[in-house]
Amino acid sequence: MSLESAALRRVKPSATLAVTAKARELQRAGRNVISLGAGEPDFDTPDNIKEAAIRAIREGKTKYTDVDGIPELKAAIVAKFARENGLTYKTSQVNVSPGGKPVIYNAMVATLSPGDEVIVPAPYWVSYPDMVLLAGGEPVFVNTTAGDNFKVRPEALEAAITPRTKWLILNSPSNPSGAAYTRAELQGLADVLLRHPQVWVLTDDMYEHLIFGDFEFATIAQVEPGLYDRTLTMNGVSKAYSMTGWRIGYAAGPEPLIKAMQKVMSQSTSNPCSISQWAAVEALNGPQDFIKPNAKLFESRRDLVVSMLNQARGLHCPTPEGAFYVYPSCEGLIGKTTQSGKVIGNDEDFASELLEAEGVAVVHGAAFGLSPFFRISYATSNAILEDACQRIQRFCASVK
Ligand SMILES: Cc1ncc(COP(=O)(O)O)c(C=O)c1O
Repeated sequence: MSLESAALRRVKPSATLAVTAKARELQRAGRNVISLGAGEPDFDTPDNIKEAAIRAIREGKTKYTDVDGIPELKAAIVAKFARENGLTYKTSQVNVSPGGKPVIYNAMVATLSPGDEVIVPAPYWVSYPDMVLLAGGEPVFVNTTAGDNFKVRPEALEAAITPRTKWLILNSPSNPSGAAYTRAELQGLADVLLRHPQVWVLTDDMYEHLIFGDFEFATIAQVEPGLYDRTLTMNGVSKAYSMTGWRIGYAAGPEPLIKAMQKVMSQSTSNPCSISQWAAVEALNGPQDFIKPNAKLFESRRDLVVSMLNQARGLHCPTPEGAFYVYPSCEGLIGKTTQSGKVIGNDEDFASELLEAEGVAVVHGAAFGLSPFFRISYATSNAILEDACQRIQRFCASVK
């Protein structure tokens, strides 16, 4: 009998973690390796947020809380959605989970029955399909193209919907492509969804505040109020407030869904860390002035990386609207041979040969469901990015 459950056997381990592990192994062996695989901001949690956590500890706010979040945090989340997204919720429509990832997982476990389908546009954040599989559902992929800036077209969405479709997962700005949907593009998708009342929408807005130039962030329940009653608008403090380790994510949606997610939490994780919840109250209610300068910094890094990658032979790098990732194509290098005599047959070969030859760790596109591409996280200093991009240019020039 297998130790792993049937559900777990359908799941693959995270490719992003595997790349990070390989990079660390090479570093331990004395190699000079630059890892561009990590998905977290490279700056510290702001001091006012840390102080709020310390205060919470001192004041003894260290006990169990309501399973899906303290009322003060739910109120801060309600205020955030009203202030930033023009969305009106009651606190009874809010879920707080131990990270953005568990919000999605709880929603899937709460709602999927065997055979239920979840539409996942590719390239996708690595965890979506596996969370769907763990919850007993079936991911249905809709491929996008670099030409469409990795955004799903309404007609492709329409073609993927069946009577078994339970959810569409949207992610804007996207991990891994950085692509963000305009209001008009969201309206195009909403028009399709309005024709299929059985389909719910989970929108993962985790990178909402990492938006560049004059691009205006929009979220689907705001664009199309007709979808409000079947949309779970998910977000979190991890990326915007540099709080990846604190583990607080949240969402708002229809009450019956929020209740179902609470039921899952009540028999699994219970509440998110009490101290982190108080820190998140400060994050959402406190000063927001560092968010725009941070986005500007990421924008200058994006410009640097896009420009240097487009100077590399055989690579093509679209310019994303947000997040801190680029998703360049390595199609021009497929079939070429490296200095060590290896043929680059696919994007996974490209990533592993790049790591071997130049010590730059990136994640291959197949891990995100769309080849031949790779993902770079540019959440690191300009000096490191320049060094990494020079190495990538050298590697691309060296293959024949
Ligand atoms: C698109 C997307 N959603 C959700 C998450 C998860 O966030 P958290 O760290 O709060 O669980 C991530 C983290 O990498 C992400 O990239």
